Amino acid sequence: MKEVTSEIDGLVVRSSGVWIKQKYYYLKRYLDIFSKGMKNRWKGNLTYIDLFAGPGRCLIESINKEEDGSPLIALQYDFKKYVFVEESEELIEALKSRCKNSPKFSKIEFLEGDCNNVVNKIIPQVDPAGLNLILIDPTGIDIHYKTIERIVKEKRADLLINVQLGMDITRNFLAYKKKGNNSKLGLFLGDNVDWDKLKNPRDTVKLYKERIKDLGYQTVEFKDITIKNTLNAPMYFLLFASKNPKGLRFWKEITKKDHSGQLELF
Ligand SMILES: C[S@@+](CC[C@H](N)C(=O)[O-])C[C@H]1O[C@@H](n2cnc3c(N)ncnc32)[C@H](O)[C@@H]1O
Repeated sequence: MKEVTSEIDGLVVRSSGVWIKQKYYYLKRYLDIFSKGMKNRWKGNLTYIDLFAGPGRCLIESINKEEDGSPLIALQYDFKKYVFVEESEELIEALKSRCKNSPKFSKIEFLEGDCNNVVNKIIPQVDPAGLNLILIDPTGIDIHYKTIERIVKEKRADLLINVQLGMDITRNFLAYKKKGNNSKLGLFLGDNVDWDKLKNPRDTVKLYKERIKDLGYQTVEFKDITIKNTLNAPMYFLLFASKNPKGLRFWKEITKKDHSGQLELF
């Protein structure tokens, strides 16, 4: 990841393409409908968990504009608790500095480390009696299936996963397949993959969705949102999963219009 310094606060920022606005468009809309629509039913017991939190701010270089990153965006919505996990010490320190002046600072748990390695520290933060929203937003397929499995076990948690199809799965598919279970793709998919059946990246996505369903998300139909770059090439997609039919209704509602205001034809 390219890092530069913010002209606004002098702290490190992530450099990003303009397409990041599409991701934030859906994230903001889901945070809004989730935090308002679930608040009463869950008596305010809502937790937001960001497993790849970043430094809290990014720079869209092509238009020289800085934007809040996902953790700072989430702080604008009403949750009882926020959990931010980030493996880079420099980035999590920048994130802490950016959150310090927030009135919600005392509600934030910062966890430094690879989310797959610090999963034992993440699990106690997931509210078993409340409703959780987990954002998984890596730059590659860096989330292990077992990590998600352990975090959501016996918990109510909606998942919003950035699946790096074009940027990682497609690009490295043959190399991953050759390496098998110990490849990044193997860890992403979990155990017992029949590699001969995975003929192409699309098969991988199909299997991944089945595996997510195996975690208790079986009532969910998926409506993926593909994020494209400025050349209209698909980069990654947002996969949403909820154990609750209301979650799916919300997702359908907020994805009716795409980021440019066009009605989606599904
Ligand atoms: C795409 S950025 C996240 C951006 C953030 N969600 C936002 O919208 O501003 C991915 C971040 O995850 C961090 N990261 C990469 N691998 C990680 C891991 N295994 N566990 C936790 N953080 C990780 C990187 O340092 C980077 O800051």
